[in-house]
Amino acid sequence: MAEYTLKVRRYQPESGDGPYWEEFGVDLEPSLSVLDGLLQAKDRDDGSLSVRCSCRAAICGSCGMKINGQSGLGCKTQIGHAHEAANRRNGGGEPIVIEPMGNMPVIKDLITDMESTHWKKIRRVTPWLLPHGEPPEREYVVEPESMIDITQSMACIQCGACVSSCLSMEADPDFIGPAALAKAYRFVGDPRDAESKERLHDLAEDPHGIYDCTHCFSCIDACPKGVAPMDQIMRLRRKAGEEGIEDPNSGHDHELAFVKIIEKKGTLDESLLLQESFAPGLKGKLKPTKRAIKEMLGSLPTAIRGLRSGKMRSLPKLIPGIHPKLPDGAQDDVKAIYKHAEEHREEFNIYIQGEEDVEPEPDETETEEKV
Ligand code: SF4
Ligand code: SF4
Ligand code: FES
Repeated sequence: MAEYTLKVRRYQPESGDGPYWEEFGVDLEPSLSVLDGLLQAKDRDDGSLSVRCSCRAAICGSCGMKINGQSGLGCKTQIGHAHEAANRRNGGGEPIVIEPMGNMPVIKDLITDMESTHWKKIRRVTPWLLPHGEPPEREYVVEPESMIDITQSMACIQCGACVSSCLSMEADPDFIGPAALAKAYRFVGDPRDAESKERLHDLAEDPHGIYDCTHCFSCIDACPKGVAPMDQIMRLRRKAGEEGIEDPNSGHDHELAFVKIIEKKGTLDESLLLQESFAPGLKGKLKPTKRAIKEMLGSLPTAIRGLRSGKMRSLPKLIPGIHPKLPDGAQDDVKAIYKHAEEHREEFNIYIQGEEDVEPEPDETETEEKV
């Protein structure tokens, strides 16, 4: 048995007061969950401490919350691990910090309103099959292999942890969001659905749709069931691209620009990103479309904001042609990865750690590859 302190963000609307923090001391085995700790505090100290839960086994999706700032399930997070995470940096004495999920209105303590932000968006993507023709007399029969691609998205338990952690949704609350888009892929990828194309048009042409995701990986980290919502969004994008769907954000062209620049230079040359996104090939043949010119002019304020905020840290980085090359034969390695991915039609999420102008630590030079 060990002792832990839970620091809980509380909100009791009936009191008329705003949110406040309260600490509870609990004692239980390190292998028990943060939810067990909360239920002990509720039982022993304050029956009004409100938390939503049911199965206590990571199945029902009820107990989404933020633990030490990370969205996840209270019942799937061991309290010993949460304690270690809270104290990893300063060596001890820190409480486990527990908050309600983000991007959702708080109803009471750790209970959020999932209707307005989660379920509404799930309904937005028509979360049921739309087959054409007469239904079969008995069930639809599909080859098991044709379902493999969508089994990952079928594992979702609708806990909302990905929604809570989504950075794009913080900036744009109208973003359809990771859970709903993962659900959309479940039907787009289903061989029985006859309206996949219409779904793709809908999701790509909505300015808050698939191209509103900034590819930040937060939802992948948050998801307790390995759904990897961002990967499902990338699959939707790939299918929309294959259909040749033009989206209002030029998201598909923007993606192609990233792919092309990295293939050529190894790292992102931001000076080429705008022109390659909106007027590809501008340098070689000066033939931008009217839309491209409009988009580039419209993006100037964003570029200026990037400069002001320090995101584009130096003016030389914006001058085409002076982007630093990768050292030694690293560029050939990048090309080999592209060749391999194209030949085998594999998906890569590649994390490159460190910056070109920062001396890397010995363990920062690795490139982690996740297929
Ligand atoms: S990867 Fe996209 S959907 Fe997932 S949290 Fe980031 S912005 Fe949101
Ligand atoms: S995708 Fe994962 S995190 Fe998001 S609602 Fe489903 S199970 Fe929860
Ligand atoms: S209580 Fe069911 S998922 Fe946590």
